[in-house]
Amino acid sequence: MANEKNERATTGTRRARQPLERSAARARSDSAFLRRLRRHHDELRWLYMELYDNGAMFAELCDQMKAFYDARPEALRALDARREGRAWYRDRDLLGMQMYIDNFAGTIRGVEDNLDYLERTGVNYLHLMPFLDTPADRSRSDGGYAVSDFRRVKPELGTMDDLAHLAERCHELGISLCMDFVMNHTSDEHEWARRARAGEGEYMSRYFFTGDQALIDRYTRDVPQVFPTTAPGHFTYLPELGQSVMTQFYPYQWDLNYKNPRVFNEMMYNFLFLANQGMDVIRIDAVPYIWKQLGTNCRNLPQVHTIVRMMRMIGEIVCPGIVLLGEVVMAPVEVVPYFGTVEKPECHMLYNVTTMATTWNSVACRDTRLLRRQLEAVCGLPRTYTFLNYLRCHDDIGWGLDYATLSDWGMEEVPHKRYLNAYFQGLTEGSVSRGELYNADPVTGDARFCATTASMCGVEAAGFAGDAEAMDVAIRKDVMLHAYLLSQSGLPIVYSGDEVGQVNDYTYHDDPERADDSRYIHRGRFDWSLVDRTDEPGSVQQRIYDAIQRLEEVRRTEGVFDADAEMSVVGYSDPSVLWVRRRAGERTLHAVFNFSDEGRTLWMPERGEYTDLVTGERSEFETFELAAWDFRWWLG
Ligand code: GLC
Repeated sequence: MANEKNERATTGTRRARQPLERSAARARSDSAFLRRLRRHHDELRWLYMELYDNGAMFAELCDQMKAFYDARPEALRALDARREGRAWYRDRDLLGMQMYIDNFAGTIRGVEDNLDYLERTGVNYLHLMPFLDTPADRSRSDGGYAVSDFRRVKPELGTMDDLAHLAERCHELGISLCMDFVMNHTSDEHEWARRARAGEGEYMSRYFFTGDQALIDRYTRDVPQVFPTTAPGHFTYLPELGQSVMTQFYPYQWDLNYKNPRVFNEMMYNFLFLANQGMDVIRIDAVPYIWKQLGTNCRNLPQVHTIVRMMRMIGEIVCPGIVLLGEVVMAPVEVVPYFGTVEKPECHMLYNVTTMATTWNSVACRDTRLLRRQLEAVCGLPRTYTFLNYLRCHDDIGWGLDYATLSDWGMEEVPHKRYLNAYFQGLTEGSVSRGELYNADPVTGDARFCATTASMCGVEAAGFAGDAEAMDVAIRKDVMLHAYLLSQSGLPIVYSGDEVGQVNDYTYHDDPERADDSRYIHRGRFDWSLVDRTDEPGSVQQRIYDAIQRLEEVRRTEGVFDADAEMSVVGYSDPSVLWVRRRAGERTLHAVFNFSDEGRTLWMPERGEYTDLVTGERSEFETFELAAWDFRWWLG
């Protein structure tokens, strides 16, 4: 047993250390481990016993933490020591990019060969979309989110060694790596699922099996659908067992049963194994769903918070340099609790999902009032709560807006969503957006939306029509939204391709393994020819790429963008104008954005001298002009 455990921890760690070096390092490291364990032990044990009441399994967890700690490469331990107690992920010079390995460069080695492009683009945080082994049939992999083996890379992308090598190279260049940890489910080809399907009770207990239709009906009644059109229902019937297994997402994604401590322990070992490959940020996928309780909606249950808190402590004991990024796509009141409390934190960082959706709402309505409220709510949170900001990601945009407020303003949920979806599909008067609906629910009339940033801003439509004037506006809108993204506190993430204005990819329609999932419209292969065009003065790509580059450069060098700067929203009289103020010491930034189709004359709070941070020009004035969808960063 001890050997087996040891093997679990060390498999896949590449460098064997020399004996002498090892004993000195071990003495030092043991004391660091013990110090960290001592700090968290009582609380960890308390929470574990509260959930599982199983001392033997807790002891195993502790042994394994030590084994993973011992197996952690020296360079990563040194990084931990440098990062411990420092919120490195809040540095204003961080710029993230999210990408699929195959779309960007074919393989993990391909990514390594192209790191110079990322460096040139100023990217120093890289989220590699799911790359662990999944069913070979791509129509059963959910874009990598149906994991068959947490310790094996998809063979066509490379190996664990390639990954660890990439991580090492990235660390040399000051780039951090983020990966997905799909906790809620495994694919039905995972070894546990295969053994469960074969009727092995121990493995069946790692999932939720039932033959009771009444129970299934109760879940169906109480639990909302994740994919109402593409994968309706919560259970999948397995004829070979005469039983159904819980599958909240796709039928080939079996929900794990975290009531079983074996599941929790093994998943924590997987997490630590991946951390030891050099991952800096672990994105905990679909985390609100991991605990199921009949009679509830099975979302955000208190036990989820216990598990995330335990995970945070386990990380801080074994690998304190790593960051937990929670994927919590929920209403704002459900999102913030995943930070935990200041004394007992859970996730280090969360997606700023409501702000993202509300931003596009402002684009469609040319009205920033709801966005102002949302930003004010974010500004009112403790500064240590760090958000990951983004304009779009690999998933659809769900219209999770504050409908109570919208209703006070005469906009009701269903017709409003209908308007947003029509607008972004380019079906309403004056809309320049292009894209497709996702999971349109015939029952609720609900639908989400998919497209790239450039397509939503009008680059696709203007390019298709060959309309230079419309292209100017589209580029301005695209750049303005990036400026707005970079004006927020937290970590900005650009989706690969958005930096060169890549538009929608409709070829997924011809791919039978993908045609059902419109999210592939914005997950196209990275078009390197667009990068070539960034050298052509006046090209769309050059204008977008250079503008975003300049914005990042300003953000990196200017203290008003510090995560600790005081941010507030100005209640400017014109609802189509968003005015954000950031203050650090004596310096004040006025970040002003025109979310309207017409130019505006705007008034500064007082006549004075201001520097345009983008051009560097300083001038004295009281009013200034802002073209449609333009912005200014004025430093006062
Ligand atoms: C997350 C991912 C999404 C995936 C789902 C199921 O929400 O972002 O792409 O479909 O989890 O794993």
